[in-house]
Amino acid sequence: SRNIRLAVVAGDGIGPEVVAEGLKVLDVIAGQYDLAIEKTSYDLGAARWHRTGEVLPDSVLEEIRGQDAILLGAVGDPTVPSGTLERGLLLKLRFALDHYVNLRPVKLFPGVETPLAGVTPEDIDMIVVREGTEGPYTGVGGVLRKGTPHEIATQESVNTAFGVERVIRYAFQIAASRPRRKLTLVHKDNVLTFAGELYQRILKQVAAEFPEVTTDYVHVDAATMFFVNNPARFDVIVTDNLFGDIITDIGAAIAGGIGLAASGNVNPDKTAPSMFEPVHGSAPDIAGQSKADPTATILSVAMLLEHLGLPEAARKIEHAVGADLTERSGARSTQQIGDDIAKRVAG
Ligand code: NAD
Ligand code: IPM
Ligand code: MN
Repeated sequence: SRNIRLAVVAGDGIGPEVVAEGLKVLDVIAGQYDLAIEKTSYDLGAARWHRTGEVLPDSVLEEIRGQDAILLGAVGDPTVPSGTLERGLLLKLRFALDHYVNLRPVKLFPGVETPLAGVTPEDIDMIVVREGTEGPYTGVGGVLRKGTPHEIATQESVNTAFGVERVIRYAFQIAASRPRRKLTLVHKDNVLTFAGELYQRILKQVAAEFPEVTTDYVHVDAATMFFVNNPARFDVIVTDNLFGDIITDIGAAIAGGIGLAASGNVNPDKTAPSMFEPVHGSAPDIAGQSKADPTATILSVAMLLEHLGLPEAARKIEHAVGADLTERSGARSTQQIGDDIAKRVAG
């Protein structure tokens, strides 16, 4: 049997509820594919912060670094100052483990309701390659003259040629592997001229290695419009960290809702474990009520298996989710949805 060391960071709010269902499905798969999954749960998030003041101690980070993959629920809680856990835990993991590709498929499953009129699953099938370690997320900047009428808050967007090139090359590889072979750069090069020009120039350079891939460019504001009125124009998108965050919530909304959107924080060079998580947050408004949809987490488990070289197992979960979505009716609890999908995987 194959051994997989899995770090589990359930986190805050609905995180533990959805992660439990993801693990339920993973356990079924493990039996079928002879996987010995060695799970280590890490007590990180709001509760630990309240108890100890710690967010992500270095010793814990180093332990996580030694695992094969990470499954994360969500972090963030209204009782903790905003950014403490988001930056100190989630972004720290993404940065420290060099998750420079944030993979976010936007795919409408058959039978799933979309708020868009007249679209079919063929019209919404894209993958957003969001840069994961740079842009406005780096924390470069600061506050001057705090609390005065002349306070200045700067938050720099950091974009390196190295970082931009590696994420663009990855996006080309994904585009080259898909039937439409189309890659769209989404940015704001009419205003963010320094970073935008760097992305444009590197896109053109790397394009020479992929003559079979067609490329185009869309400003991010227009991209939000096209997500709503012409999502079919997109196949693969490559974009900056912040733009990618925003457009993938719109992507989730058009593809059936935030409860279905999966993601992977990928270190393609495999110098550290990759981390899989739903796109959504800790949803404090519904936490503890068994109302959260665990489907996004279950699909994130499929992405995790794919990343670990188990594509058959991944497809099996996706098919089970697809069947579950087609036959959905009536309200089910988080646990019922997990049970139903696990049963389908069990066959
Ligand atoms: P959110 O995604 O938590 O919630 C937005 C809305 O979507 C809420 O109404 C929520 O009930 C609903 N929702 C989210 N997930 C759902 C699910 N699985 N099933 C059904 N409904 C679901 O975003 P927010 O409200 O902007 O943020 C809440 C907290 O989560 C904040 O602390 C934020 O920083 C954090 N956050 C964390 C992550 C992450 O860990 N990756 C992502 C986004 C937000
Ligand atoms: C996401 C979240 C995070 C992000 C926050 C919580 C740091 O919104 O995963 O989409 O902005 O990347
Ligand atoms: Mn987000």
